[in-house]
This record gives sequence, structure tokens and C-alpha cells, in this order.
Amino acid sequence: MASSVGKVSSVFRPGLFKGKVAIVTGGSTGIGLAITQELLYLGCKVMIASRNAQRLASASDAIKKQIPRDSSAEISDIQCNIRKEDQVQKMISETLSKFGKIDFLVNNGGGQFPGPASSFSLKGWNAVIETNLTGTFLCCREVYNQWMGEHGGVIINIIADMWKGFPGMSHTGAARSAVDNLTKSLSLEWAASGVRVNAVAPGSSIYSETAAANYGDKDIFNHAIPHIPAKRLGTTAEISAAVCFLLSPAAAFISGETLKVDGAASLYGTTWQIPDHKNLPAYDWETDDPENPKTKAKL
Ligand code: ADE
Repeated sequence: MASSVGKVSSVFRPGLFKGKVAIVTGGSTGIGLAITQELLYLGCKVMIASRNAQRLASASDAIKKQIPRDSSAEISDIQCNIRKEDQVQKMISETLSKFGKIDFLVNNGGGQFPGPASSFSLKGWNAVIETNLTGTFLCCREVYNQWMGEHGGVIINIIADMWKGFPGMSHTGAARSAVDNLTKSLSLEWAASGVRVNAVAPGSSIYSETAAANYGDKDIFNHAIPHIPAKRLGTTAEISAAVCFLLSPAAAFISGETLKVDGAASLYGTTWQIPDHKNLPAYDWETDDPENPKTKAKL
């Protein structure tokens, strides 16, 4: 299947990332693809990693065609299931063999499925936690131990709009919230090694063909618009711009931070509907007093 790789541009200066090397997990689709394209556009060498070999090869070929002949940019790809420790170790070591260093790690690879928490099997729950939390941890630890611990670097973790909980996808909410906290811990543990660690939290309404296909319902995006103060969907280019800013020297004094890119949606309403009910009665001293005749009548 040929990948649809759209046009690329950037507000940042040409050559900003000339001589830099990045790894982007989940770099062949959606938000990850936009980040990969913009990094390349700015002269970076990029290793994209994905679990899906076919998608990876087809995206890599399509992206390669966009790189001008005289650019310092280069793309390479590696199949990697970020849930597997040995594969993550290999992704880092192969990137070092290929490009000689790693300046940036963008942890974008992740995945989830919708459903009520009561329906999640242990296997399904563990799969989402392992991909989004443990996978991110493994990538961070390995890039630190194999390279950044001695040479410094910048790590960006892509998380989600889970600030009011994540009803309907509680597993990924829990995992992304944990990555928000991991970002803070690592920014402190690794500051003395010259490593900055930040996160970007895209709103749930960033439109990409990949996201639309995953949800299997194009209207899901349109239904969200009234709940976004910006009254429109976000774009993958808007997430990529935030990532490029945080990777750049303009963010040299920013670490341990999470940048929300959501058109202020996380401050506004919610799409989660709760039916009217009387199943959470109030506590009060009178009705809960066992000596109160009203309470006695209830018992
Ligand atoms: N994207 C979604 N799941 C992934 C995984 N396990 N490894 C790498 N990329 C992924």
C-alpha cells in the first residue's frame, strides 16, 4: 500500500537541525509522520521506528522522495516493537551504527482501543500500558544508557489530553498520565547529563487520516468541534511545530514541562455524557444518624 505523504513545510529556519540525528517512534503515520517530515525538512537525519514493517517501508520510500538532493537530511527505518526490551536496545544501537549519534528522541509510538474500563481484559489493559508507558520508558532508558547519558540530548514524549481523566479509554489515560510524571522525574535525574525531557499533549481532535481510520468514524472529529474553544480541529503540523520548538535551542531552558496543544479544549467542556440518575445520594448528618426516625424508617 502506498503511503499518503503530504506536503511539508516549517516556520523554523532552514537548516535548523542540520547535523542532528533523531529517532521518531511511530514515525510513519499521523502525528509521527508530520514530525518526521518537518525534522527532515529542517536538515535532520531521522530514524523512524514502527512495529509494522510494511507501513514503515512504504512511508520511508515516500518520504525519501521529498528530500532534496542537496539536503543534509537522511531517513532510515527500523522495525521495532517498543514493548520488547531487546528490540528497543537494537533500535538505539542500530541508529548509533548508522548515524554515529542521537541528539533527539521523540517517543510518539503508542496505541489504544476504546471501551468502558469494566470491559477491559487484563491482556488488553496490559497491552496498552506496555505500549504507551513501558515502551516509552524503555526507549528513554536505552537512549540514555547507550548515548545521551554521556553526550546529552533532548527527549520529547507525546502524550494525550487526559487532564480530566480519559473516560472511554481509561487505560491510555492512566499510561499517558504516568508518562507526564515520568517526564518530570527524568528531567531531574538526567539534567546533570545535559538531557532535557519534555512532553507534548495533543488534544484528542488532531485530524489525521490514520486517526480517522483507527476510529472508523469520520464524524467523531466533527462532533468534537463544539467542545474546542478554537472551534476547529487541530492539525498534525501544529503538533510537529511544538515538538520542533521544544527540540530547538529556543527551548534550551525548558525541561520537565508538558506543552498542551489542544486549542484550549482541556480547559473547556467534555464530550463525555452522563445520564441523569439518583445513584449518588448526598451524605448529611441528619439522614445518616441511626437515631433519626427518617433513617430508622429506611433501615
Ligand atoms: N505503535 C503502536 N504500537 C507500537 C509498538 N508496540 N511498537 C512500536 N510502535 C508502535
